[in-house]
This record gives sequence, C-alpha cells and structure tokens, in this order.
Amino acid sequence: MFQLNQRQCAAFLNSEMSNTIVVGAQWGDEGKGKIIDFITDKSDLVVRAAGGSNAGHTVINNGQKYILHLIPSGILWENKLCVIGNGVVIDPFGLLEEMAKLRSQGVKISPENLVISETAHLVMPYHKALDRAREAKLGDKKIGTTGRGIGPAYADKIERGGLRAVLLTQPEVLEPELRDRIIRHNETLAAAGVEEVPVEETVKAVLDAAAILAPHITNTVVVCHEAIQAGKSLLFEGAQGTYLDIDHGTYPFVTSSSTTSGGACTGSGVPPRMIDKVVAVCKAYTTRVGSGPFITENDAIGDMLHNMGREFGATTGRARRCGWLDAVLVRYAVMINGADELAITNLDGLDGLETIDICTAYKLRGKVIQYPPSTVADIELCEPIYETHQGWKQDLSQIKKFADLPPLAKAYLKRLEVLTGARISLVGIGPDREQTLTV
Ligand code: IMP
Repeated sequence: MFQLNQRQCAAFLNSEMSNTIVVGAQWGDEGKGKIIDFITDKSDLVVRAAGGSNAGHTVINNGQKYILHLIPSGILWENKLCVIGNGVVIDPFGLLEEMAKLRSQGVKISPENLVISETAHLVMPYHKALDRAREAKLGDKKIGTTGRGIGPAYADKIERGGLRAVLLTQPEVLEPELRDRIIRHNETLAAAGVEEVPVEETVKAVLDAAAILAPHITNTVVVCHEAIQAGKSLLFEGAQGTYLDIDHGTYPFVTSSSTTSGGACTGSGVPPRMIDKVVAVCKAYTTRVGSGPFITENDAIGDMLHNMGREFGATTGRARRCGWLDAVLVRYAVMINGADELAITNLDGLDGLETIDICTAYKLRGKVIQYPPSTVADIELCEPIYETHQGWKQDLSQIKKFADLPPLAKAYLKRLEVLTGARISLVGIGPDREQTLTV
C-alpha cells in the first residue's frame, strides 16, 4: 500500500513547504537567476551548492540590476537565509567585492542572512594564475574558461590538497598551510614560465579577508537540516547548466563541478529524499559561452539577438554563441535532473522571427538518434533534424497572463512539452520579475 513518510505527510499538510532544486537545462545562462528570484518568495533558505564566481546571475528588480556571482539571489529579499554550501568553491576576494557592490546598491548582508560552509573549498590567487596559464598553453584548443580559477581549485579539492573555508576561522592554522600551498603552486607557475604569486603579500591579503568573512562560516549541513526539521522550505540555486556538468556535459568543454540536480544534494548535505521538486530552466533558444560543440549554433540568430542588445555574458561580458532550441539536449537534461517542470525564459527573444526551428533529433552516421552522443568527436558529426514553426511576430514583453499569449507562441511551448517530456510551469517574456507568466 502507498504510504507517506513523516516528511511527505508534513509537506502534504503544509503545501507551502517544499524543497526545490533549480538547474539549467542547457549550457548555463538560461536565466536561472530570474526564475529563482521569482520563486524565492515561497522559500526560506536559498542554497548554492556548486560552482563559484564563474556563475553570473542577473536579477532585475524595480529597474535596479543586480549581478550575483557567489551569493545566492535570496540576498535581495528580506528574511531569507542564504547558504553557500560545501560544494561551492569560494574566492574570498571575489566574495568581498561582490558583498561591497551589493551593499552599495542598498542590500543588507550579515551573518544573519549569509552563511558559508566550513567545508567549501577556497579559490586562491594561484588557482586563477594556473587557470589562465593552462588556457594560454592550450591555444586554440582552450576551454574558454571564465578565468576564475575554478578548474584548478576543484582539482586541488579532488587531489586532497585544497584549503577549506573553515581555515578562515583559524588564522594560525591557515597561515602556514597557505604559505606552503603558494610555494608549491609557484613551482608549477614558474615551470610554465608564468609570473609567480607573491607569497607574503598574498598571505596577508587572505588573512585580512579571513577576518571579515569568519563570522559567516559555519556548519551549513546542520543549518539546512534544522531548517527542514522546522518546516522551512529550501531553494537550491543551480549554477551553470547540465551541459557544463563535469560528468554529463560536453567534456572536456565543461566546468569542474556537478551542475545537475544530484550536485545540489552532495554540494549541500541535503539528501535526495528531502527534495520535492526539480525545475529545469531553459531558454526558448540555445546559447553557449566558451568553446565546445554546439549542434544548433546559427550565426544569423546570434546577430539578431546581439543587435537587440541581448546575449552578452554577465561574468565576462563575452558575446554568447546562439542557435535554435535543441530539444534533444533539453530532453536528456530533463532525464538527468529528474525535472518535474520546465521554466522557459527569453521567449520574447524570438518575437521578430518569421519562422522558428526546433531541433528534434540528430542524424549520426546515417542513423537518427534521440539523445546526445558522449564524445565531442561524435557530437561534431551530428546533423540537426529540424522542424519549422511559424513565428508569432508580436511583442510579448507586455503580456500579463499566460492565457493572453498568441496561439502560435502557445503552440511552440506545447510542442516543447511533448518533445522534452516535462510540463512548462513558468514562461519568461522579459528581464523583470513581473515579466514571468505562470502557466
Ligand atoms: P570555468 O567554469 O571558468 O572553468 O569555465 C568552463 C566552461 O564553463 C567555459 O566554457 C565557461 O564559459 C563555462 N561557464 C562557466 N560558468 C558559466 C556560467 O555561469 N554560464 C555560462 N557558462 C559558464
């Protein structure tokens, strides 16, 4: 017989209580920041569980634009607790800069609303130097990283040589450990013919940053579990996207963390059985920054979107590569993430088009395939199979209700549901919080 466990009973009795993971269904930049901000209302805690300051979440609220890199977007709300979980890699200087910028925009930040996991790893200046040196060495085979030191920091973590955030609360332990790491990494930098990181200057700067950040550092696993026991709702703010995931992405053109829903659990210490819902965010077309395969890439769409002032990266300012919506990727992302719902963003980006293509399958060596192949070499051999839809040729940005969308826009969305197997719950038609339609 079907029985609810204690948690499910409580969730059933209190329909407001639910733990939700939001992930990107493509290569990042899907507009997760805006969707997360839209559903933060129903959450008490907003948790980041993977990535670092390579992420750039843009939230526009009352005409004011906020760009968040490491800090969960819940910080823009009063009475939300923001958690930077153990799966995140933290650049203390980047974090302080972000805090200062947000404070200058009137955002309040204190240990009361921002806590950082003791076991999150630190991104140090030598990681950034190594990131840049590696990319330079790769030449035209480069990954196109954000240069934020993400790969080298995760490499140190996995190799068991990293420094964890708890050390920011223990300066006497941090100081010799940090000096040791700088000297060791400087050997690698010197061997690569790259400028070394100044030892004493860096140690002093990190200790100064540590003194400011220490009050925020705590056991965030306990924070999350106590909140769940108290009946609170957690929102996991995904960073990057499914195809930048270290396991499921277009390796090696990926980031170095688990960006899919499973990563939200390992990166926070909240187990899968406490997750109630997964929302995958997906642009109405596709974009990617950095190198790597992109089957539906289309320069004409890129030119159109760039001319509209859209699709420039929030972290690096780079013009994003653009193309048609690839339903093969989104279908597979729905599967990997266990997505219950899709939030479609940037539908208004397609407003001016006569016709709109959707890639429904690929042809690889003469065979039609429904899921992306595993190697870059095979992905590069795939030909997209498109179906063409008639465009709605109407400005959607002022529409207030889903029901008022033009029938052709609704038909496009309906087709996406069929092709991907997930229900569309939200539709974005502009950057503002208000330009989000509930389905
Ligand atoms: P890294 O994360 O800086 O090592 O970069 C690895 C790849 O992930 C590069 O192609 C980046 O452009 C991409 N990437 C990292 N973070 C983001 C993001 O937040 N949005 C989009 N692409 C990202």
